[in-house]
Amino acid sequence: MPSVVIVGTQWGDEGKGKIVDALAARADVVVRFQGGDNAGHTVYSGDKKYVFHILPSGILRPGVMCVIGGGVVVNLSKLVGELKAIQVPETQWRRCLRISGEAHLILPCHIAMDQAAEARRGASRIGTTLRGIGPAYADRAARIGVRMADTLNAGWFRTQVRACLDAKRGCLSKSQVREVCDVDRVVKEMLALARPFAGVIADTGQLLAEARRKRKKILFEGAQGTMLDVDEGTYPYVTSSHTIAGGVCVGAGVGPHDIDRIIGVAKAYTTRVGAGPFPSELKDTTGATLRRIGGEYGATTGRPRRCGWLDLVQLRRAVRLNSLDEIVLTKLDVLDGFDRIGVGVAYRVGGRRVTEWPANPADIRKVKPEWEYLPGWKCSTAGIRTFAKLPPAVRHYIKTLEKRLNVPITMISAGKDRSQLIIRKPVF
Ligand code: GDP
Ligand code: IMO
Ligand code: MG
Repeated sequence: MPSVVIVGTQWGDEGKGKIVDALAARADVVVRFQGGDNAGHTVYSGDKKYVFHILPSGILRPGVMCVIGGGVVVNLSKLVGELKAIQVPETQWRRCLRISGEAHLILPCHIAMDQAAEARRGASRIGTTLRGIGPAYADRAARIGVRMADTLNAGWFRTQVRACLDAKRGCLSKSQVREVCDVDRVVKEMLALARPFAGVIADTGQLLAEARRKRKKILFEGAQGTMLDVDEGTYPYVTSSHTIAGGVCVGAGVGPHDIDRIIGVAKAYTTRVGAGPFPSELKDTTGATLRRIGGEYGATTGRPRRCGWLDLVQLRRAVRLNSLDEIVLTKLDVLDGFDRIGVGVAYRVGGRRVTEWPANPADIRKVKPEWEYLPGWKCSTAGIRTFAKLPPAVRHYIKTLEKRLNVPITMISAGKDRSQLIIRKPVF
């Protein structure tokens, strides 16, 4: 099963980075296919902590080829900073990093536009990461974006940058225009940042086809989560890319038949950062306890994450949208101290009981979850390495979820270190 997709099943921050890093130990290629540095993927190796925003989470594994696909929006200065921070020698990343020529650049004007749009929205702001993600994808759709491959030809690059910046002048304040719409300055800065990457710009779709032909083990690393998908998520409180498994094909340039296995990462409870509907949110002390024990503060922005119990209505939607073959359950250890574990099994809306995500977006704001409580286990699961050694109440909890979701839970993460993982069915 050489091509495996890892996607978030909730609102992001499910622990995808940890899982991808752990699986990358046996992979040949790790591919980011959407999103940008709005992602924050945390990896712990011993006492060292890494947070990847733009680099694939396989970067710490020597010999693994890391690919930034065409569906990713790239902030070059963040990429440079990240490579510096993790101290990957230039000789190594020149060998093991490839960036699609189709990937769009995030320019300073996109960040300014993101900030301006959020300020305009006022109380109804999305709570974006302010990384320029939405405006960069908007320019892609409007066909005034600037791509990685454009940096290889200075004259052409200038033409593209000019078209992009010209379209911004009416949307930004005079001082912002002075700051971020100076064509000469933007061209100069971007080309200087892009120059070291000239040799790693590639047709990554072709590279992946070749890797597949050689039966290389490929991991596709999703960013964000299913409910933040631009179409299938809680629109407009979403990101601007396709976060679901379907996004792999367009974002990495691979055909639908070239995916063998699709794995969803689900936190054993639910979190969301930013505004928007969140049916199983707990605004009480239980929510605060989950936040405290789970350390639920954004890896990108440091914002406190909203917390609640697991929501099976929402997860079943993720199972369907991603064609999930299996689920990885993460952060199980965060539930260790609870007397009982809540699970949302249905919604109540307007006096009706529903077990599917409401088709009418107006309803999703009104639903109230129907809870079922499973017994807690009140002992530490951190560091347990086999399913059989888990306390009976944990096994009962996991089997109940498998039955309700009709998907096997094949990996269980209890602890943040890459070694703290129970693998019931090996991936490679
Ligand atoms: P991602 O965006 O999906 O990669 O997830 P984040 O890195 O944003 O957030 C997940 C957080 O949970 C990080 O701080 C991880 O180190 C941490 N984490 C991942 N798996 C586990 C786990 O099983 N137990 C605990 N306690 N923490 C975990
Ligand atoms: P990872 O990959 C959680 C959220 C933002 C905001 C919305 C739109 O670490 O799981 P954007 O900046 O993308 O325009 O913001 O999406 N968001 C995330 N939430 N995890 C992420 O990534 C996220 N990336 C964006 O908080 O609500
Ligand atoms: Mg994250």
